[in-house]
Amino acid sequence: MSSPAESAFQRCIHPDCAQTFSVSEVLTACPKCGSLLDIAYDWSRVAVPKSLREFEARWMTRRNPVDFSGVWRFRELLPFATDEQIVTIGEGQTILQQSDYVGRYVGMTGGQLHLQYEGLNPSGSFKDNGMTAASTHARMVGAKIAACASTGNTSASLAIYASTARIFKVVVFVGSGKIAYGKLSQALDYDARTLQILGDFDDALARVREVAGEKGIYLCNSVNPFRLEGQKSIMYRVLEALAWEPPDWIVVPGGNLGNSSSFGKAFQELKDLGLISRIPRLAVINAAGANTLYRLYEQQGLRWNGGRPDETLVKSFYDDMNTQRRRASTLASAIEINRPVNLEKCLRALDVCDGVVREVDDQAILDAKAQVGAGGFGCEPASAASVAGAKLLREQGVIAPSDKVVCILTGHQLKDPTATVAYHSADVELFEEKLGQRGVKSAPFANRPVVVDNDLQKIIEALGV
Ligand code: F0G
Repeated sequence: MSSPAESAFQRCIHPDCAQTFSVSEVLTACPKCGSLLDIAYDWSRVAVPKSLREFEARWMTRRNPVDFSGVWRFRELLPFATDEQIVTIGEGQTILQQSDYVGRYVGMTGGQLHLQYEGLNPSGSFKDNGMTAASTHARMVGAKIAACASTGNTSASLAIYASTARIFKVVVFVGSGKIAYGKLSQALDYDARTLQILGDFDDALARVREVAGEKGIYLCNSVNPFRLEGQKSIMYRVLEALAWEPPDWIVVPGGNLGNSSSFGKAFQELKDLGLISRIPRLAVINAAGANTLYRLYEQQGLRWNGGRPDETLVKSFYDDMNTQRRRASTLASAIEINRPVNLEKCLRALDVCDGVVREVDDQAILDAKAQVGAGGFGCEPASAASVAGAKLLREQGVIAPSDKVVCILTGHQLKDPTATVAYHSADVELFEEKLGQRGVKSAPFANRPVVVDNDLQKIIEALGV
C-alpha cells in the first residue's frame, strides 16, 4: 500500500473543472475556477477494511492515542496523513443516547429517537472532529499561524488545539457582541489572540479570508477541505453506536453548512466502498432568522443539479439580501449566518441523502432545548434546532413515528448559559431583555428557581416533594 499522502489529493468539486492538487498545497478554493475543494482518494491504494466491523479491533488498542481518537480510529476512511503526523487531543469520545423522553416530545415511537452528543468533545462542540484534521494538515505543511472566523465554537476548538499541540499560534476573528460568553471565555483562556470585529460572522469570515490570503496564514474555517474530512467521523460513530445499521434520518442544524456537507460525503464514500447498503435521509435545520438554505432549497427550488446549481438564482438571492441589508438574526448565535460558504457542498449532500431543509423559530428552538435538557445531556440553543426540526418534520408527516432518527447535538449546554437561565428564570425582566426582544414570548417548559427565606420550615415547605 502507498503512504497516505500518495493516495490522497485535493479536487475541485465543479464537474467542468475537477482540477486536482496535491495535499501538500494550502488551498481553500480552486485556484482555477474558485469552487470549493474536496479531499479525494485513490481508494485502490488504501487498505480499506472489508467491513465497518473491522474498526472494532481498535477498541482493544485504545492506549495508542490515534486508536483512542473517535476520529482517527477510522483513519482508513480519511487517509491523508501518516500516524506520526496526526494531531489528536482525544476528540470524538461522544455518545449516542436513545431518549424516549425527547422522543415523546418529537412525536416518535419508543426507542426510535437518538441524540448524538457532540458537546462531549474536549472543547465542547463537534468542531473538534474537524479541527484535529485541519491541525494535522497544518502540521503537514509546517504552518506557523492559523486563523478562523467564528460564532464561537470554531474559535474555541482551534484555540484548544493550539494550546495543547503547540505547533502553531492562533488568531480568531469573532463578531463583536455576537458570541456566547462560554465560547469567548474559551478563546481567551486558551490564550488565542482574539479580534472582535465590529460586525457579524459573515463580516468576520470575509475579513479573515482576506487576511489569511494576504499574510499566508493557515485558515481553519470549513472552506478548509481537511476540516470536513474529520467531521465525517461523526457519522462513523453514529453507525458504530447503531451496530453499523444506518438510521432512517440524520437531523442536523445548518449554519455555514460544513457538517451537513461532510455527512453527505461520508455516506457517499461508504456506499461507493460497499461498506453500507443504504444511505439515511438528511434533514438540515436553519434558524428562521438565518434561513438562506431553506429559502433557496425549499422555496426557490435550488438543487445540486449534477454539480451545476443555478448560479443566477443564487446571485440574485444575495443581491436582494444586499439591497435589503438583511442580516442574520437568531438567539441560536452559533448558526446566525446568512452566507453559508459550503452551500454547494450541502446541495450535493442533500442530493446524495434525498434531503430536506426546514426552518424553526427561536421559540421552537428554546422549547426543544428545554426538553433536551430535561430528558438528555443538554445542549446549546443552535443544537436544539435539530430536535425542533425533527418535531416539525414529524408534524408534517415527513418523518414517520417508527423511523429511526438521530438528531445531532452539536454543542454543550454550558456554551451559552445566558439563554438557558433567561428561559428558566422567574425573572420577567431577564426574560424580556434576553429573549422577549427576540420574539420568544413564553417558556412552557421553564423550571423556575424558587427563592426562599433562610428558614428551615419555609425551606421544607418549598421542597415540593
Ligand atoms: N451548531 C453549533 C453549536 C455550531 O457552533 C455551528 C457552527 C453549527 C451548529 C452549524 O454548523 O456551520 O457546519 O452548518 N458554528 C460555526 C462556528 C460557524 O464558528 O463555531 P455548520
